[in-house]
Amino acid sequence: MIQIRQIPKEELSKVQSIAHRTWPSTFANILSTEQIKYMLNWMYSLEMLEAQLEKGHTFLLAEEDGEELGFAGFELNYGEGPKAKLHKIYLLPEAQGKGAGKALILEVADRAKKSDQKSLLLNVNKYNQKAIDFYLRIGFQEIYKEVIDIGSGYMMDDVVMELNL
Ligand SMILES: CC(C)(COP(=O)(O)OP(=O)(O)OC[C@H]1O[C@@H](n2cnc3c(N)ncnc32)[C@H](O)[C@@H]1OP(=O)(O)O)[C@@H](O)C(=O)NCCC(=O)NCCS
Repeated sequence: MIQIRQIPKEELSKVQSIAHRTWPSTFANILSTEQIKYMLNWMYSLEMLEAQLEKGHTFLLAEEDGEELGFAGFELNYGEGPKAKLHKIYLLPEAQGKGAGKALILEVADRAKKSDQKSLLLNVNKYNQKAIDFYLRIGFQEIYKEVIDIGSGYMMDDVVMELNL
C-alpha cells in the first residue's frame, strides 16, 4: 500500500537522492547532460532544499513497504487567489505508473484545499509530454507558456498548468 508522509529537515537528502536518480531518464531527450547537472546542483543542493523548507515549502514522500517511491514539494499562498504551487514531483523510474504520482498530487490538492487555496499551479517543461499527459489526466489545464532564463546560458521552456480546487 502506498503511504505518504511529510519529510522533515533531517531527511531532505532523500529528495536529493530521488531527484538525482530520476532526472537523467526524465530529461535525457529534453535537456543537455550539462544542463541536467547544472540544474540538479543548483536546485537540489541540501542548502537550497533547507532554504525552501524554511521559506514554507512542504515536501511529501511516497513509500511502499518502507521503500521510497518518489516525492512532491509544494508551497501555499504562492499566488493571489490564494493559489498553491506544486514545485516538484518526481517518482523513481521503477516506481512510475503505480499510482504514487496521483496519490501525491491528491494529497497536495487536499492539503491546499484545507488551507483555502483556490487552485494548484505548476510548471512543466513543454517537451515533457508524458508529464503533461499525466497532469491533463488528473484535471490540470494549460494556462500559458513561459521561457525562464536560469543563468549560465540555460533556459527553462515551460508550460504553466492549473488545477482548480
Ligand atoms: C509524471 C509522474 C509524476 C506521474 O506519476 P506516476 O506515478 O507515474 O503516475 P500514476 O501511476 O499516478 O498515474 C495516474 C494516472 O495518470 C495516468 N497517466 C500516467 N502517465 C500518463 C501518461 N504519460 N499519459 C496519459 N496518462 C498517464 C495513469 O494512467 C493514471 O490514470 P488513472 O488514474 O485513470 O489510473 C511520474 O511518472 C514521474 O515522476 N515522471 C518522471 C519525472 C517527471 O516528469 N516529473 C514531472 C516534472 S514537472
